[in-house]
Amino acid sequence: MSKDSLNRLRLRIEDLDVALLKLLNERAAVSVRIGKLKGQNGLSIYDRSREEAIYGYLAQHNQGPLKTSEINRIFSEIISVSRKLQSASARDDSEPRMEWAGDSDTSALSGKTSVYGILGNPVAQSMSPLMHNAAFRSLGIDAIYVPFEVKDLESAVAGIRALQIRGASVTHPFKTRILGLIDQIDVTAKKVGAVNTLVLEGNSIRGINTDWTGAVRCIEGLLPIKDNHFVVVGAGGAARAVIFGITREGGKITLVNRTKDKGLALAEAFGLPFVPLSETENLSGDCLINTTPVGMYPNVEEMPVPKGVVSRYKAVVDVIYNPFKTRLLREAEAEGCLVANGFEMFVFQGVEQFRIWTGRQAPVELMRDVVLERLGTT
Ligand SMILES: NC(=O)c1ccc[n+]([C@@H]2O[C@H](COP(=O)([O-])OP(=O)(O)OC[C@H]3O[C@@H](n4cnc5c(N)ncnc54)[C@H](OP(=O)(O)O)[C@@H]3O)[C@@H](O)[C@H]2O)c1
Repeated sequence: MSKDSLNRLRLRIEDLDVALLKLLNERAAVSVRIGKLKGQNGLSIYDRSREEAIYGYLAQHNQGPLKTSEINRIFSEIISVSRKLQSASARDDSEPRMEWAGDSDTSALSGKTSVYGILGNPVAQSMSPLMHNAAFRSLGIDAIYVPFEVKDLESAVAGIRALQIRGASVTHPFKTRILGLIDQIDVTAKKVGAVNTLVLEGNSIRGINTDWTGAVRCIEGLLPIKDNHFVVVGAGGAARAVIFGITREGGKITLVNRTKDKGLALAEAFGLPFVPLSETENLSGDCLINTTPVGMYPNVEEMPVPKGVVSRYKAVVDVIYNPFKTRLLREAEAEGCLVANGFEMFVFQGVEQFRIWTGRQAPVELMRDVVLERLGTT
């Protein structure tokens, strides 16, 4: 190899980089204009069908040598930055409601302000305060939603009564432990075997599960549930909600879990066949659903099942939404599967909570946008 030819190739790379840079900035400028239009018209920044269409035409036009999976990886970053730009320009240009999308303004708090919160440990990473506070403010509801990092769950439940906290979300690791500490449990939450929502009624605490509604919404955005076969990986709280939702809507399920005893116990509770995680390669179905935390930030290169497994399914769902597209979903997309993350599941469990607590229709688009914006910055 001569030094000359290496230098020539490097110069060619430089030219191409400058051309790419120009195109990326042109694309960004168009995104800003789209964001403004969306802001003015109250449209959601995140549009799953549009993003799917982008990946679709990229795959169609890709002539290599880059693989579609590699192109998707690059564009996933470009699209994520575009969403962030769109959110910022939508906020600049929209109605006053978007002023409330950020962190809490505490100047309006008074003795009459209703307090809501989330019980979990850890909770610092939770997007629920951001989402619910934005929703309260946009509808002019005198309420605030606070993260509570709980050390002692029993005392926290007593604190809800003592402090008259109107309602709370319950998250990891308390969704099942809370069952034995509250006064009433909704029939549905009993069947799911987990509670993610508390409501204070007088001095009585009622437990509800809204995760399953979010799960159904998320899956049905991808394929019908009725009569399709789902392979669900994981046997924790998220798996319970997903399994309950699919069963209720008439889907068939095979349960897969790493720990056999835990998997068998859950499978037996719902009358499902069980397969150990080590045997996932023998399975196939219409849709694979990951309900484990494997692949979640910061362990973004991990996958809950071996890579080749995804090609045995038409669709793949991952309940994780940080990163927005896990490695599992990227591999599935490269195999031509339909994919969905847990973003819609998260937003819609919150939308249902908001309806239960306030009796009002939740501002869904705003709730989506504030979470997306925050995700885009982490
Ligand atoms: N999108 C949403 O709205 C939403 C809602 C709820 C939860 N989630 C997400 O769902 C995930 C699970 O939450 P969860 O509350 O169900 O947790 P969980 O109750 O602790 O259950 C976790 C499950 O994942 C399995 N698991 C954990 N690490 C594993 C590994 N390295 N390899 C294989 N399996 C593993 C566990 O298997 P073993 O039984 O073998 O321990 C268990 O079955 C989290 O990432 C959470 O953020 C999302």
